[in-house]
Amino acid sequence: MTEQPWQVHFKIYRQRSGQKPYIQTLTLAVDPDEYILDAIERIWANHDRTLTYRHACHHSTCGACGMRVNGCEKLACITTIRSVTQNGGNLRIDPLRNFPVVSDLVVDMGDFFLRMNKSGFDSVALSEAACLPYEKPKILMDQAEQVTERLVDCIECGLCISACPAANTDKEYVGPAVLASIQFMYAQNPSQELIDQADHHSGLWRCHSAYECTQVCPSGVDPAWRIMDMRKKVLTDRIKSIFRPRSQEKKNA
Ligand code: SF4
Ligand code: FES
Repeated sequence: MTEQPWQVHFKIYRQRSGQKPYIQTLTLAVDPDEYILDAIERIWANHDRTLTYRHACHHSTCGACGMRVNGCEKLACITTIRSVTQNGGNLRIDPLRNFPVVSDLVVDMGDFFLRMNKSGFDSVALSEAACLPYEKPKILMDQAEQVTERLVDCIECGLCISACPAANTDKEYVGPAVLASIQFMYAQNPSQELIDQADHHSGLWRCHSAYECTQVCPSGVDPAWRIMDMRKKVLTDRIKSIFRPRSQEKKNA
């Protein structure tokens, strides 16, 4: 027997620049296995063309469709209605937290992208290799390298920043994705510049180890682990510098 459509009351955050936000309610009959993004597109196409939202790839690659669904950070293109409601009912959709709202579900991620660039992270680093004759990717060589290389899968979706309690209380906080990127770059090519980007009050030491970032990351980047790893490196270097013989310091000076 085929499953009946579910009646879902979409409660969508609406806000135009500079205006007061409000919640718009629309009831739709949906296939429970429909993706949230598809339902939003139907709402836009059939009910309200003023609704603004971001999307591009529809398969969890571009990072554009991040939003909060019933209070949890999700990529709307890979989240089914069944996975977030039970037999329909209310489905609340909000923009990501900790970013300024541009319009409805669209947030301004400009500062975040600039910080990612500053860390030297290149999200398409491996795409060039993919065009060359096939060689066994470095990622398969050993377990430790797998963990390091994995960050190239960061799709810069911002879900980790939205979920982070520290980012919610400190607007200066560098944030999990950027710190993870710094850890990744530092593991390959250590530099004082990268340490300086991370080793300060609004950087590595602002994280509360809540692990919310790791929980919501759709790409397995594990930013919380990377922040802890970077802390370990910074502390180890500090301790080593305390015990380094003075003669060594002179030589290095
Ligand atoms: S670390 Fe994960 S959650 Fe954060 S921006 Fe990258 S892919 Fe998105
Ligand atoms: S539309 Fe590209 S990640 Fe969802």
